[in-house]
Amino acid sequence: MKIAITAVSGQLGAAITKRAIEEFGKENVIGTARTPENAKSLGIKVFKADYNSKEDFIKAFQGINAVLLVSGMDKPENRIRQHQNVINAAKEAGVRKIVYCSIIGKPGTSTFDAVVNSNRQTEKDIKESNLEYAIGRNGLYIEPDIEYLENYIKDGKIANCAADGKCSYTSRDELAIAYSQLLKNNSLNGKIYELVGEAITQTELVGYFNKYLGTSLLFESMSPKDYLAWQQNTNGEFLGTIISGIYAKIRNGEFEIDSDFEKVVGRKHKAISEIINSYKNE
Ligand SMILES: NC(=O)c1ccc[n+]([C@@H]2O[C@H](COP(=O)([O-])OP(=O)(O)OC[C@H]3O[C@@H](n4cnc5c(N)ncnc54)[C@H](OP(=O)(O)O)[C@@H]3O)[C@@H](O)[C@H]2O)c1
Repeated sequence: MKIAITAVSGQLGAAITKRAIEEFGKENVIGTARTPENAKSLGIKVFKADYNSKEDFIKAFQGINAVLLVSGMDKPENRIRQHQNVINAAKEAGVRKIVYCSIIGKPGTSTFDAVVNSNRQTEKDIKESNLEYAIGRNGLYIEPDIEYLENYIKDGKIANCAADGKCSYTSRDELAIAYSQLLKNNSLNGKIYELVGEAITQTELVGYFNKYLGTSLLFESMSPKDYLAWQQNTNGEFLGTIISGIYAKIRNGEFEIDSDFEKVVGRKHKAISEIINSYKNE
């Protein structure tokens, strides 16, 4: 079976590719990337393909049986059309199956909901495409918080508007294992799977950082309005709006999701504390 993975220059695409190489063999995995130079270290053939160009993907998908679509990073209104380019290219190139990396989230009214809704539209487009499919909805990965840890340490705290809402986290490596299964195991086709570990509060998250990574952080609860203003000031309007919307959804319980991980992988998702502990010596 020949598979193609999109956005292999990104961190999730690269993690899935490494796992897929183990599962399917290097000769059976190709990648696509807007910037192929960023994917050289994977050691597979990487076609240049921008989500804005269906033709790029038609070329890349020749002879491919299954495509894994990593969702894009553009504004929500642009993503839908970009994802349609990949779906339509798969159909035109004779691909049989598409696996899509979507996102968790109960419906809500936060400034992140446009992103969630764009992912739901792509899920619908895939279901209506007549391709075989499997859809994963990714929990929030823990890695960006780990990468941001130095900043939290400088501030002595994690401050956001999640209050005591719970969020179902995951990690890119756990997702990579799940997506290999969704590509390989056709008995999982035709369904949507929530790919998450257990749900924890921000206070619990801070507690794990303090316990396993030796920090002395506090959690500071901010109002959604103040947090939005702070985020936009710090990260700019687009990214700040997206990030503050994520924590507003956590506050509202809209990222507290029952997991389907075990159905896909055949074992429970690793505990979030265990994942955080694995960064102890890094
Ligand atoms: N669940 C979560 O917690 C979470 C967190 C962050 C993001 N996400 C979503 O998951 C996706 C993957 O995340 P990640 O961690 O791998 O992010 P990442 O490391 O920033 O990678 C983003 C990838 O998207 C590619 N890309 C952006 N615009 C593109 C375009 N027009 N055409 C083709 N490729 C394009 C980038 O290509 P270049 O190398 O050319 O830039 C890069 O490969 C994101 O795109 C986002 O939708 C989820």
